[in-house]
Amino acid sequence: MDLRDQEEDAARETPADAGCCPKCQMTARVAVALSTTFLVMGLFLCLIMFVRWTAAPEDDHLVYKTSLKQQTERLQQCQKERHDLTVMLHTATRDSRCSLCPDGWLWWRSHCYFFSVGVQENLRWNESAEFCWKHNSSLAVITDSAEMEFIQSVMRSFPKFPFLWVGLTDTQQEGRWQWSDGTDIQDHMSLTVEWDADHRDCADLRGGGSLFAASCEAYGPWICKKDS
Ligand SMILES: *[C@@H]1O[C@H](CO)[C@@H](O)[C@H](O)[C@H]1NC(C)=O
Ligand SMILES: *[C@@H]1O[C@H](CO)[C@@H](O)[C@H](O)[C@H]1NC(C)=O
Repeated sequence: MDLRDQEEDAARETPADAGCCPKCQMTARVAVALSTTFLVMGLFLCLIMFVRWTAAPEDDHLVYKTSLKQQTERLQQCQKERHDLTVMLHTATRDSRCSLCPDGWLWWRSHCYFFSVGVQENLRWNESAEFCWKHNSSLAVITDSAEMEFIQSVMRSFPKFPFLWVGLTDTQQEGRWQWSDGTDIQDHMSLTVEWDADHRDCADLRGGGSLFAASCEAYGPWICKKDS
């Protein structure tokens, strides 16, 4: 049999089968009904899954949105509290500055410090000592490493790290360095003055807490210190 015969056979058989086999028709109907049912059920299931699938992210999104809203509210609350605290702190520091230290002086550990850098013209050591004296203070006497670190941290805040006159001199007796309060250099903490020489009787403070002997006639910035 060739292909044409097969086709002819098929064409002959189909109407014959359809016409003479109610059982087949029944089976076909049942099959159609079943497959329709399955199809509908499948579609229904798909629909349910689709709804759940689309609803789930919707729910997540909602949860996310809710938590985001809560977070935002919390953040706003924090920001408000921070603002209030800043205002309070500002008021408090302004108050304490008024009562503890004069304007332009820094308060640290129950003392007030004045850094002349950028505020006053540079002066000789004796003139800067006079400036401090006129402001009821004296050139700074540094008594411990914490105070040294505080002073260094302020010095670091200037654009150019300055050297500063402090209350340390050996004018009374060459080589015997004394603080403005009459104590010897080593009485408070272990310090030495570098570059000591006959004509250099005043100490300036530099980075890293080092002290250098300089001519008292040199002009420079200085630090005053007084009780708050
Ligand atoms: C500071 O010392 C210089 C000389 O070294 C002197 O001419 C000047 O009067 C002194 N100033 C003060 C305020 O003591
Ligand atoms: C220094 O202290 C005296 C008396 O305590 C006071 O009258 C004077 O105003 C003070 N001067 C400065 C610059 O604070």
